[in-house]
Amino acid sequence: MARIFITGSSDGIGLATARILADRGHAVVLHARNSDRAASAHKAVPKAEAVLVADLRSITATKKLAEDANALGNRPFDTIIHNAGIGYGATSSREITADNISAVFAVNTLAPYILTCLIHKPTSRLLYMSSDSHYGGDETLRNVTMSHSYSDSKLHDVMLANFFSRRWGKSIRVVSMHPGWVRTKMGGMMAPGGVDEPSQALADWAVGQGSLADLKSGAFFTTQGQESAHAGANNVKKQEELIDICKEVSGVSCPFTNPPL
Ligand SMILES: NC(=O)c1ccc[n+]([C@@H]2O[C@H](COP(=O)([O-])OP(=O)(O)OC[C@H]3O[C@@H](n4cnc5c(N)ncnc54)[C@H](OP(=O)(O)O)[C@@H]3O)[C@@H](O)[C@H]2O)c1
Repeated sequence: MARIFITGSSDGIGLATARILADRGHAVVLHARNSDRAASAHKAVPKAEAVLVADLRSITATKKLAEDANALGNRPFDTIIHNAGIGYGATSSREITADNISAVFAVNTLAPYILTCLIHKPTSRLLYMSSDSHYGGDETLRNVTMSHSYSDSKLHDVMLANFFSRRWGKSIRVVSMHPGWVRTKMGGMMAPGGVDEPSQALADWAVGQGSLADLKSGAFFTTQGQESAHAGANNVKKQEELIDICKEVSGVSCPFTNPPL
């Protein structure tokens, strides 16, 4: 049975995916922003191995989350899904955090970067949850740490996937996904779809099953299959610039010394 860590699994797509995987007998580690949300997540997925707590708006809390994830269990995760996100609807979407960066950048861009660098590399699969909104993102990275743009942050998620794919993509599958416009706190109640379709697809992918399982590292996909991502996501210079910014803001370096291929 696989061991899977899903950030932002107290609600929406992350919670639904965690529930499917736990019901299938996999060891799922949940993540929630605070202890109240953790209790609610654990109640919804009682078979989960554990629930880790961290508010991803905080760089310190995100680093601690990585430590906690590494301290848990006696083997690395097979699969890590960077799913937590905030969007335009969030009350906090124009917030500047205590670290003096936008909350959207902190949660959607910087947190997956920090967690990727500090949590032991998964043995099999690594996914960054993006969105079709990433097509509207600004690849110039101008004033990026203060950007409140959801589209920018979702472009960053594809760039992160492509950056880590260039380094790790031969040994594990490193991909990004658009789950579809679905009814969640973020998607809103007017969304045409429910969480079932993306959650089933994501749960299958996480354990190497279903039609998406064999997509290669660097793929950006929907529940229907691979799609072309924003051209800027493949711009190696821009990927490296984003990584340098994340490194500088967080003080966290990539877990390898050689530049990616
Ligand atoms: N729904 C859509 O139509 C849609 C479309 C495209 C992409 N996506 C992407 O899919 C992913 C999941 O979204 P969703 O629709 O399932 O949204 P959601 O229901 O709002 O769930 C988001 C999850 O992230 C967590 N989270 C948000 N801010 C956090 C913070 N500061 N610290 C820790 N956890 C935090 C939330 O915790 P709480 O439960 O405490 O809020 C929740 O567990 C996101 O990356 C989103 O960008 C969604």
